[in-house]
Amino acid sequence: MLKLEKNVILIATGLLLTMLALLTYSIFGLNIKLPGCVTTAAAFTQGEIIRKTDSLYEVHVVAKMWAFEPQLIKVKPNTTLDIYLASQDVNHGFQIENTNVNLMAVPGAINYARVTLREPGIYHIVCHEYCGVGHQNMSAAIVVGDEIEQSGNSIPLAENQGSLGKNLFNSKGCVACHSIDGNPGAGPSFKGLYGRKEKMSDGQIISVDDNYIRESIRDPAAKVVSTFQAVMPKLPVTDDEIKELISYIKTLEAK
Ligand code: CUA
Repeated sequence: MLKLEKNVILIATGLLLTMLALLTYSIFGLNIKLPGCVTTAAAFTQGEIIRKTDSLYEVHVVAKMWAFEPQLIKVKPNTTLDIYLASQDVNHGFQIENTNVNLMAVPGAINYARVTLREPGIYHIVCHEYCGVGHQNMSAAIVVGDEIEQSGNSIPLAENQGSLGKNLFNSKGCVACHSIDGNPGAGPSFKGLYGRKEKMSDGQIISVDDNYIRESIRDPAAKVVSTFQAVMPKLPVTDDEIKELISYIKTLEAK
């Protein structure tokens, strides 16, 4: 073998070893943290409306089965919105009616659009990508008006959302199996549910109240209405959220 060839091999091996050594040092010696997925960054895990100036807002929108967060954004006319869109689960669409904003919410990515809303009115936001059984209920809105109270940092999200219980009904997935129009799905319809007498699979008759609904969410298999199967999963819902869901169910009267 030529001396030159030997030298080349030696230098190449040397460089390779140096690179590996530097890599090992940077991982363990310098304690460098590798960046995670952008959508797991705290700023993009929940909806937020940030008022930059009176006419400029930054809005973090989180899409998830089957709701947008925030559900309602209120601003004055001639407001510019910088919208950052993330998804917590699957692909969703995000289209703002009467504007040219048409984004996809893609898991693992943040998508951005800027829009200036000059005219007063209600700008509906719809999901235009089929994302499961609750897809057709997935919507939000921007209300633009002079007299309205504007959204902003100081307004808690819950207050900003009209009906929190209804939002939970969609976002927690209840909508997948429980209708609100009286038609049975995989589970009983929520229309007129509150106060109704239901026959359980063991023959027992139960009148639907707060306790029954709470138990049905916490332990779905405990008491199942006789004409249905025990297919409901345990959902991650807090006690406060259950209260909101119950007050929403109470509004769905039978008539
Ligand atoms: Cu989200 Cu369709």
